[in-house]
Amino acid sequence: MNADAPILLFDSGVGGLTVYDALREVLPEAPVIYAADLAGLPYGSKTEAQIAARVAGLLGRMAERWQPRLACIACNTASTIALGMVRDVLEIPVVGTVPAIKPAAALTRTGTIGLVGTEATIRQKYVDDLEEQFAAGKRLLRVAAPGLVGAAEAKLRGQPFDPALIAEVHDRLARLAEGERIDTLVLACTHFPLLADELRAAFGAEVAQVDGAQGIARRIVHLLEGQDFAAPRPNRFVVTGPLSAATGLEGALAARGFGAAETF
Ligand code: DGL
Repeated sequence: MNADAPILLFDSGVGGLTVYDALREVLPEAPVIYAADLAGLPYGSKTEAQIAARVAGLLGRMAERWQPRLACIACNTASTIALGMVRDVLEIPVVGTVPAIKPAAALTRTGTIGLVGTEATIRQKYVDDLEEQFAAGKRLLRVAAPGLVGAAEAKLRGQPFDPALIAEVHDRLARLAEGERIDTLVLACTHFPLLADELRAAFGAEVAQVDGAQGIARRIVHLLEGQDFAAPRPNRFVVTGPLSAATGLEGALAARGFGAAETF
């Protein structure tokens, strides 16, 4: 394995940085190329066919160009729809990001779990299967929260967003049958941990927030065990579409060890 070969982290936007942050905690020496498909954002309102074609096509081209040692789809929407297809087209290990229903089910005391994701994620059979496998006998209440994707993108750019968006997600969940019994919240979109403070303010500190970032980072470490990494250089942050879409992210990128944003 070439010691310069990067890990490719892929998301529709900045959400996958929550996975990147967890990965850097455990594998700071690994070179990373983070690819944000800002030209395709948001994925949540797209059809399954659109997402699958886009994600498999982009990851195929990116893998060809950068020869990564591993790819991580740091996006629940893309993973729950296209993980199998991407694994079919890439010849490297591909790690997906799927809703953290298993740890949430282990954590809940009331037996009622809330799940917030994109419109596309919450309707996936993949999520039905996780529920059946890990949360049988518990209650999993799902809501789509597409507005939070834009809010997280804005927050990381230091731009204002409407806090009522977060309160509205809380209210929609609370109004569902047994909604007031939720003690554990699955953040089933990688953007949402960027709003952890706002979600805590809306749901209360007693509601545990669960996401998959740490688990994914541990999985990557496991898969790369024994591999060498070249001397650290700035990581790369690459966007599809015009570079102007990354305006405002400079501080967030510099703080995470990235060089200036580039286009794909
Ligand atoms: N970050 C993505 C996820 O984890 C989706 C955001 C979007 O493009 O709608 O689901």
